[in-house]
Formats: sequence, C-alpha cells, structure tokens
Amino acid sequence: MKVLASAPGKVTLFGEHAVVYGYPALVVAIERRVYAFAESREDNVIKISAKDLRVPGIVISYIGSEVVLETDYGMVLPAIAYINKAIELTSKYLGSRKGVNIEIKSEMPVGAGLGTSAAVAISTIAAYAVANGHSLDKEEIARIGWEVEKEVQGIASPMDTSITSLGGYLRIKYGKSTVERARLNVGTELPLIIGYVEREAKTKDMVAMVRERLERYPDIYSDIMKLIGQVVSRAEGSLLSGDLSELGFLMNLNHSLLDALGVSTRRLNELVNVARDSGAYGAKLTGAGGGGCVIALVPEKGEVVETAMRLHGSMVMRTKLGAEGVRIERTE
Ligand code: MEV
Repeated sequence: MKVLASAPGKVTLFGEHAVVYGYPALVVAIERRVYAFAESREDNVIKISAKDLRVPGIVISYIGSEVVLETDYGMVLPAIAYINKAIELTSKYLGSRKGVNIEIKSEMPVGAGLGTSAAVAISTIAAYAVANGHSLDKEEIARIGWEVEKEVQGIASPMDTSITSLGGYLRIKYGKSTVERARLNVGTELPLIIGYVEREAKTKDMVAMVRERLERYPDIYSDIMKLIGQVVSRAEGSLLSGDLSELGFLMNLNHSLLDALGVSTRRLNELVNVARDSGAYGAKLTGAGGGGCVIALVPEKGEVVETAMRLHGSMVMRTKLGAEGVRIERTE
C-alpha cells in the first residue's frame, strides 16, 4: 500500500518558551507543508529517505540501523530522529509494527523554527498508520507526535504538534495534566513576512538553556515568563479585533522579553531592527531562537520591508496563514 500524508509548518505569533512553563501561546499553521510518503514492505525493515529537506537533491537514507549519507548537510540528521521515533511510537500505539519505506519532502528549510520537526513527526505518523492498516484521528496523531517531540528533544510543549495536526490559528496552554486548545477565528489575513537567518543552535539546546537559567535565577526568569504570558493575553484581543498597530507593539515587546531570556542572537536582533526601521508595525523572532526565523507585521504589501530584509542577507518567505492541519493526500 502507498500513502501520501502532509502536515503544515507554523509560526508562533506570541508566547514561545513561556508556553513550556504553562503560559498561553498564539500560533498559526502556514501554507508550507511537509510530505510523508509511506509504502508498506513485505519484510519488517524500516527504510527512511529524507529528500529536498533544505536544498534540492540532497538524499539521506536510513536502512535498518545504517545511515547512508550522500551529503552531510546540517539539520537533516535530527529530522531522521523524529521519523524513527514517530514510527516506533505509532507501532507501539497500534500494537503492530510493519516494514515500510518512508520518504519525506519539505517545502520549508528544516530546523528554521517553522515547526518542521513536528510536521515531519505528524505527517509520518499519519502516513505510517494508514500503511499499517489503521487510521488515526487528528487528536490521536497530535498526542503521539507530542510524545515523539518529548522523547527526541527532552522537553517540549504540545504547541508545535497541536498546530500541525489541527491547523488554523490556535491559543494553546498546557499544565501538568491538561492541554487547552482554542481555535481563534481571525477574520483578516495578517500581512506577515518571514525572514530566515542561519540557525546557530537547535531547539533542544535553546529550551534546555532557558530551563537552566530559570533554575539558576528563578525570581528573575519566572517574572519574564509571566510578562510574556501577559503580552500573549493582550495580543489575543488585538489579533481578534485586527488591530495591527497594537499587535506590532506587542510583538516588539515579546521580542524584547525573548531577548532577555537569552534566546535571540545578534543577527536576529539586526533583522528585527531592519524590519522595524523600514516600516513594519513590529517584528519578533519566532520559534526557539538561536538563529532561525523572524516575523514582521507589515503595512499593506510590505515591499519596502521585504526588500530591506533581503538586503540584510536573510531569506524571505511569504505564505498564506491558517492552513489546514494534517491530511491524507492520497492512498493507492
Ligand atoms: C519551539 O517551536 C517552541 C518552544 O516554545 C518549545 C516548545 O514549545 O516545545 C521554544
């Protein structure tokens, strides 16, 4: 049997990092997807190929326990860890393990902070389950995906796996035993530009660094987290009422607090400033930081901001927001 599944990337509008400590975050699925193609095999071997994850033409294969590298391109190997774990945990959940060839393709650079790891895990779970003779609903896929992220990363909130499973715009908050997700009906398309600068550190390391600082300076860091939570609450109202200038102001505030947490970099700060100086309502890093992506909220088409961000040397992406969550594209 052959199955093609896909899941969207995301941008965190507000609240990354603080979401790990029980504060709410606002997140949106983007129209750039990861595709997982699963083909069942007669034997019980799992073969994983990751193709075009960053630069067209890269192929990395994982056969049994052997990794075959045709190039050593940076962030691709961690993506394979998510695929491997997704198959392991889905087999466990289904109580059945079957041999499968899995091929992954991405319309976004992996490891950029656009939730590719979660989209890789979620599309793999959906495709593998169908190839294994089962179908899972979005909630089940999201739950298994979160377990995958926690096992691979050590610490993870259910934010990325929820948004790539369910799609749209979500407010998400989780506690010890609860995950609260609310769909947000955002009426107008937000004029957002995404700029990408090279990643210097992985999500796992950024999340661990924040935890260490929180343990070392609990009084200071827990206040920063609390402030981020307050910014998120205000931002939800501005998002729903479409108040772009207030949203921009709150994005700037959120960025400063992320910088205070220590997750921004010189290049991210420069990109944020370039966007603001060329007319954006506001700009902030999005995702775990340590390099990666900046989002800028721009007036109208925002060509001036886009050009300024390109001139700064960042890769710029435009994409539709509020994309559909995980889906099965076709089966044969
Ligand atoms: C990573 O996309 C977002 C973080 O908040 C980590 C997490 O929520 O698991 C930094």
